[in-house]
Amino acid sequence: MKEAVRIHEVGPRDGLQNEPGVIALADKMALIDLLSGAGLAEVEIGSFVNPRRVPQMADTAAVMAGIRRDRDCDLTVLVPNMQGWRDFRLAAAAAPAARYRVAVFISASEGFSRANLNCSVAESLTRLAPVVAAAQAAGVALRGYVSCVTDCPFDGPVAPEAVAQAVAALRALAPMPVSLGDTIGKGRPKTVAAMLARVLEVAPARELAGHFHDTGGWALANVEAALDLGLRDFDSAVGGLGGCPFAPGAPGNLATEALIARMAALGLETGADHDRIALAAELARNMRGAA
Ligand code: HMG
Ligand code: MG
Repeated sequence: MKEAVRIHEVGPRDGLQNEPGVIALADKMALIDLLSGAGLAEVEIGSFVNPRRVPQMADTAAVMAGIRRDRDCDLTVLVPNMQGWRDFRLAAAAAPAARYRVAVFISASEGFSRANLNCSVAESLTRLAPVVAAAQAAGVALRGYVSCVTDCPFDGPVAPEAVAQAVAALRALAPMPVSLGDTIGKGRPKTVAAMLARVLEVAPARELAGHFHDTGGWALANVEAALDLGLRDFDSAVGGLGGCPFAPGAPGNLATEALIARMAALGLETGADHDRIALAAELARNMRGAA
């Protein structure tokens, strides 16, 4: 049997959050429904953040209400604080699903933490502690993100030690898998491997994911560096949508279609339905064009 790789699709969130124009709710839901039925392990469908800061995610509750929720696929939302948690819970009560997952996010660097979350790394952890406790009490599965794992758009290169500390701090709140974000795509296989070597001292490979933006065209090479160190969980965005509005120079997540093609070439099983992913990629590209 082929070895499995888990794909976490972030296009509807990490992709669309960066689009300048308005994306129609119906288009967003059509994209998510295509992706959640495409054999992927997880689809990130939105976020409960300040809508003035990320207007493209303001309709996440409506998305939850309108999409298919009966699929064999985790449906993930980002939550930054208790206000976001309460909004998620209200939306989930109106649109119940067994497979919701909440992702909490911090940065390994202070500069990006300030730009993204309007607070220090330590303050972001303090804000997240009650969110994590509430999710645990409610039986909602968690995922963590650490951004800027090799480079920060404000502070420059980030030390592996800072990433290991951030991963350990998140996992001290509660056991959770953590996705390691190369937010601006500056990582190279060597820097990614050096970062991972230190992070693997605080978390096992099966609890880590790679989230490589493809700004510099190195995302697939970075995935392979992470594969060599035992990671089997990767984030990507269909059609290569993506970026973070608070990280200058961060367009373009690794494209899901490129990731599944490379995994197939390496003899690794993703479970992805290539035809559906191709359709979703076309829809994503049209949405980008229309925005
Ligand atoms: P803050 O600015 O510190 O907020 O927000 P505050 O607590 O001072 O409140 C300011 C206003 O925000 C208030 O409204 C709050 O009600 C409102 P006002 O009184 O002015 O009318 N507010 C909220 N509204 C809706 N939902 C909420 C919420 N919280 C406060 N949850 C906050 C802190 C984090 C919310 C804000 O700074 C924010 O929304 N930031 C955007 C974060 C974001 O979505 N970033 C992009 C995703 S992260 C990413 O892309 C990286 C990743 O892909 C990995 C990688 O690539 O590295 C995951
Ligand atoms: Mg990202």
